[in-house]
Amino acid sequence: MNENFTFKSIARCSHTQARAGIFYTPHGVVETPRFMPVGTVATVKTLTPAQLEATEAQMVLANTYHLHLQPGEEIIAKAGGLHKFMNWKGPMLTDSGGFQVFSLSKMRKISEDGVIFRSPRNGDIINLTPEKSIQIQNALGADVIMAFDECPPYPSDRSTIIASTERTYRWLERCINAHECPQDRALFGIVQGGVYLDLRQAAAESLVKLDLPGYAIGGVSVGEPAELIEKIVKVTAPLLPASKPRYLMGVGTYREMAQAIAWGVDMFDCVIPTRLGRHGAALVQGERWNLRNSRFREDFTPLDETCPCYTCQNFSRAYLNHLVKCQEVLGYTLLSLHNTTELIRFTTRIREAILSDRFTEEFAPWLNSTTTEST
Ligand code: GUN
Ligand code: ZN
Repeated sequence: MNENFTFKSIARCSHTQARAGIFYTPHGVVETPRFMPVGTVATVKTLTPAQLEATEAQMVLANTYHLHLQPGEEIIAKAGGLHKFMNWKGPMLTDSGGFQVFSLSKMRKISEDGVIFRSPRNGDIINLTPEKSIQIQNALGADVIMAFDECPPYPSDRSTIIASTERTYRWLERCINAHECPQDRALFGIVQGGVYLDLRQAAAESLVKLDLPGYAIGGVSVGEPAELIEKIVKVTAPLLPASKPRYLMGVGTYREMAQAIAWGVDMFDCVIPTRLGRHGAALVQGERWNLRNSRFREDFTPLDETCPCYTCQNFSRAYLNHLVKCQEVLGYTLLSLHNTTELIRFTTRIREAILSDRFTEEFAPWLNSTTTEST
């Protein structure tokens, strides 16, 4: 039991496995369920830390893969760690780099030892192993660090997923051995297993025996049909200990978050709000709007009059339409600010609904009938 990373469940939904909780970290609390913005290269794109704080972000992500390539973890360690380097005072989480190597670098060779790839930046050969990933993450100094895992593409056949999941488990054991200062940094394990529900179940059961401070569900949203995500979450999340935070990696759409919360997931991350923002799109009450559309040219109302964000409080759709048509940086900032606020607010509204036990009533449109089946 690590007192620096306690998770307290403070309310349970009486119809689903949804829970409201508090995850304590050395840099503050994460009130769950909660969406976590992604700051890949130690910046949530287009937002200053003050703007990010205004979105009510609590835990923010950064990436081992990108920061190892540029500027390198030595520079960040010299700066006093990630929090000081980027001036984010709240909780932080770093992803291990495994997923990014698989999705971003062309030349890569995977073996039992780890992954060898060429830096897309300068062509250097880089050898990322479980030990190396943990060493980099220790130097970066986030509150939560992630195990170095293999995230196979969809579709992959069963034998491939079996071999990969077993390797991910052996890598996790190496991560645990390489991990330093568990009082300052919590190492989360990642459940893989592709779309094979029995493999997911076996992976979850073996990870739980390691008694880690938190657990993630990885390997989803990799191109599989959307309805499979909920099936995976439904069999995996309830097997993870109720006393530990549960994190669904790379998921940040309204429906997928609402459904995963119903199965007991606490934390989410996704690049969607800032990526859409940089493409001139807004998330408005469950819909995606392209602000370039001429229907907004003379629309002087705010994006969403119920939204408390700086964008909605001060600017019109017509002005945002103008900014994105001129490709002005401010347009991308204002949209990223709104979109990030919107997804965090969606999860905090769910949290409040769980606290008053009105989750299934208030969020019924997002929860289809399969969500209320018993497990
Ligand atoms: N981000 C989204 N999915 C994954 C995953 O399966 N593993 C890791 N490490 N990061 C992810
Ligand atoms: Zn807004």
